[in-house]
Amino acid sequence: MAKKGAARKDVPTAPKGMRDIVGNEHHKYQGFFEKASEVALYYGFQPIELPMLEREDVFLSTNSEDTDLVGKEMYTLKTKGGDKLALRPEGTAPAMRAYLEHGMQSQPQPIKLYYYGSFFRHDNPQRGRYREFRQFGIEMIGSPKSVSDAMVIYLTAMILSDVGLKNIVIDVNSIGDKDSRVPYLRELTQYYRKHINHLCANCRERIKTNPLRLLDCKNPECQPYKEKAPQSIAHLSLASKAHFKEVLEYLDALKLNYRINPYLVRGLDYYTHTVFEIVEVPDAKIPDAPAENTTQLEETVEEKGKRTAKDEREAAANAPLALAGGGRYDYLAKRLGSKKDVPAVGASIGVDRVLMSQNYKAVTPRIVKKPKIYFIQLGFEAKLKSLEIIEVLRSARIPVAHSLNRDSLSGQLGTAEKLEIPYAIIFGQKEALDGTVIVRNMLTRSQDTVKVAKLADYIKNIK
Ligand code: HAM
Repeated sequence: MAKKGAARKDVPTAPKGMRDIVGNEHHKYQGFFEKASEVALYYGFQPIELPMLEREDVFLSTNSEDTDLVGKEMYTLKTKGGDKLALRPEGTAPAMRAYLEHGMQSQPQPIKLYYYGSFFRHDNPQRGRYREFRQFGIEMIGSPKSVSDAMVIYLTAMILSDVGLKNIVIDVNSIGDKDSRVPYLRELTQYYRKHINHLCANCRERIKTNPLRLLDCKNPECQPYKEKAPQSIAHLSLASKAHFKEVLEYLDALKLNYRINPYLVRGLDYYTHTVFEIVEVPDAKIPDAPAENTTQLEETVEEKGKRTAKDEREAAANAPLALAGGGRYDYLAKRLGSKKDVPAVGASIGVDRVLMSQNYKAVTPRIVKKPKIYFIQLGFEAKLKSLEIIEVLRSARIPVAHSLNRDSLSGQLGTAEKLEIPYAIIFGQKEALDGTVIVRNMLTRSQDTVKVAKLADYIKNIK
């Protein structure tokens, strides 16, 4: 027989990289979703539930085939009717699909949405990386303004600090707009071509397919070339530079701990302008604190980037897991078939990773109430009527614990004591016939006999 708690080989197990979330752990997740939803609602975001499956096109058209997400990690299936669907690997493209499908352009802009639930990526499971994982996402669709970028970053950081995370650092970068991108990619590609013989196989491929992702490479042999590579913030168009400078000004004003990370390009293809990721660093040493005042912002964006490059190198050595990521995606709507561009910005929090943090303070979900009553029944007559008493309490919103499968008084009282529940209701043969119960104070051991019809009021008054 398998040991208690150990996985059994003779019964089916959950698929690799996926798992059951039970009991207290489930409460932890639910508590997080409730807390994050509450913060989002206060900031005027409205909930949206997106389907688990989308047409494959929603992801294919919004990312090039070279992104890991589309190329390797998507779970796809063909329906009996021949439709090609994908298990959602992320929520941004589906949220934009919903915005366009429901004509939300005609409502006052921006539309602010939040969503949460499971997402699926067929990746190699490792610490903090699952095949089914949970995200909480916010999307602000229909605003080109830098204040929206700042609000999304701020809100994401607030949710993380509200659940106890400390030493949060925001890595931020701008990859510019179309006008910045073309000359930048040309220069980046030319630079990397000169070093092609020293690069890893992935990077050699990326020169052809997705040069921006060259900056994502963690392979040690490519690091010296990455460090000297041209940086996107040095190639921003005037409009992009102004946008990024404003975002940084907001982040300064909001006193957020950020650092410009010129190598941050993100794994998804649809970004423009601002991109960011949030990590929790192990100690209180926050690298590259934000500028204290706006005079320092007169320093050009390029200079700030150079100043932080060393910090970034140090950080990369023991890179912590990204807890959240996001950015602006002004051109995604057109890729989904919209006639016009729709400016938008958003972020997603990796909830499984947040819950792994030592600093995570579990938030008790609203439905979980610590019972202050333990219901004890004695004898067949009482057992028969037990559910009626429990329902009297439930409909009065009084949480109650019980173990109807037990019979002895001492066993049930012992459990009530172990659970540190302050009151017990004792319901025996006599009480069942009289329509009463005995309410016992577990601490003082004093007891009262109470009519079932008056029970809810009685308990509410002993608060
Ligand atoms: P992402 O960076 O791919 O962005 O994912 C966001 C977060 O989800 C990551 O920072 C990480 O915490 C978590 N995550 C991603 N993959 C896994 C995995 N396999 N296992 C566990 N956690 C994971 C997006 O998904 C974009 N949709 C974010 C966004 C929203 N951009 C604009 N709006």
